Amino acid sequence: MRFFRRRDRERVDSPAAGDVEPPDDQPDAADDADADDDAWASAAHEDTDEDALWRDRATAVIPGGASTGSKRPEALYGEAGAGPAHYTRARGCELVTASGLKLVDCTMALGAVALGYAEEAVTQHVIGAVAAGNVSGLSHTLEVEVAERLCDAIPCAEGVRFLKTGAEAVAAAVRIARTATGRSTVVGSGYFGWLDWWTDAPGVPPSARERYRHVPWGDVAALEEAVDAAGDDLAAIILEPVVERLPDAGWIAAARAACDRRGAVLIFDEIKTGFRLRRGGYMEAAEVLPDLATFGKAMANGFPLAAVVGRGAIMDAARRTWISSTLAGEATALAAATAVLDWHDERDVCAELATIGAAMRGGVSEAIERSGVAGVEMAGIDPMWLLRWDDPARQTRFQELALAEGVLFKRGAYNFAAIAHDERAVLAIERAASAALVRLREEERE
Ligand SMILES: Cc1ncc(COP(=O)(O)O)c(C=O)c1O
Repeated sequence: MRFFRRRDRERVDSPAAGDVEPPDDQPDAADDADADDDAWASAAHEDTDEDALWRDRATAVIPGGASTGSKRPEALYGEAGAGPAHYTRARGCELVTASGLKLVDCTMALGAVALGYAEEAVTQHVIGAVAAGNVSGLSHTLEVEVAERLCDAIPCAEGVRFLKTGAEAVAAAVRIARTATGRSTVVGSGYFGWLDWWTDAPGVPPSARERYRHVPWGDVAALEEAVDAAGDDLAAIILEPVVERLPDAGWIAAARAACDRRGAVLIFDEIKTGFRLRRGGYMEAAEVLPDLATFGKAMANGFPLAAVVGRGAIMDAARRTWISSTLAGEATALAAATAVLDWHDERDVCAELATIGAAMRGGVSEAIERSGVAGVEMAGIDPMWLLRWDDPARQTRFQELALAEGVLFKRGAYNFAAIAHDERAVLAIERAASAALVRLREEERE
């Protein structure tokens, strides 16, 4: 908890302390800070013990301390898990922790939010949906409207089924593919959520995933080998197309060709890339289209909505199997998606995310270079980037020091750009990284 004790830790835009070398061509963020800007967080009080209290209460009743794996204290801050794990308010790209610390958030709820927290249009749409009755004995008209708009926006989409989580959408895509082909074996590469059909997590019976073959990302030979091994039983190839970088076109083409040759279904998992890399996901940049694709995360800017979309002839198999969830068509998340779709109609949101992400990672990369700290490198792509450290203990210390400077970086996974990361936030991120790295360098010298 030593990182909470800094005397000068008051505002996220405070000039960096110590011998941090701020970039000299940038405006001083403190100069143009709007006096009213902190009002939304004014009820917050800084009591650093509060964060520890909430962590303790959480671990007492929630195994692991959080229901989302990446939000467990251990996942956020390493083994000791000593950092704020709970928030009370979030707006734009900032959150207020349980103790009242205001942080610039680079994690953006694991990429679920691409516009910003509590974004005005999304909030208004959701409030409207709540007031009008979130659910009833019939489907809401929004379900139809959003499905139609997804079919317009996503190149491979002629039909849509909604679900609540990415894991569900991917499981649904696999079930649709198996139903459509009447076969069982699935070859896959990527992360597909927590459900049994593909993971080897403790508690999953081997039989649940015995018709699944995992292959390394980007490896054409391994893909071909798994396809050959599947023989006439190949139902689908499912790929997470973008993992830290865009895939080689040859890998994607090999998957498409294998599916065509074998009469199998090609699925792209666009949970992270949809409405972020491109509105319609990686497939918009690809030379071939998948038959099915899954979307979630940024599609509803933090509201629980996921979808499996795809060619009409394949999606039709959803009628012949059973994919259903009581709240799949509840209106709030669909209303949020409407606002997101409006944003994308009005602006090139994904181009803006790429520009903002480039500024974020550029600033952090420069901070790394200026500090002279070795053993950390920048990875990923502009809208989703990450820091790779040579040593978990150094990563933890960097994280602590950056928190003391008012910025939450993601440990070991992506930081995500949002429209709400304005110039001031980008500057705060660079300054925090710079201060943390310089401090780390000093500590390691001592
Ligand atoms: C590519 C991909 N697929 C599926 C999932 C699972 O989504 P969810 O966590 O919403 O179930 C994720 C989550 O990070 C993901 O990144």
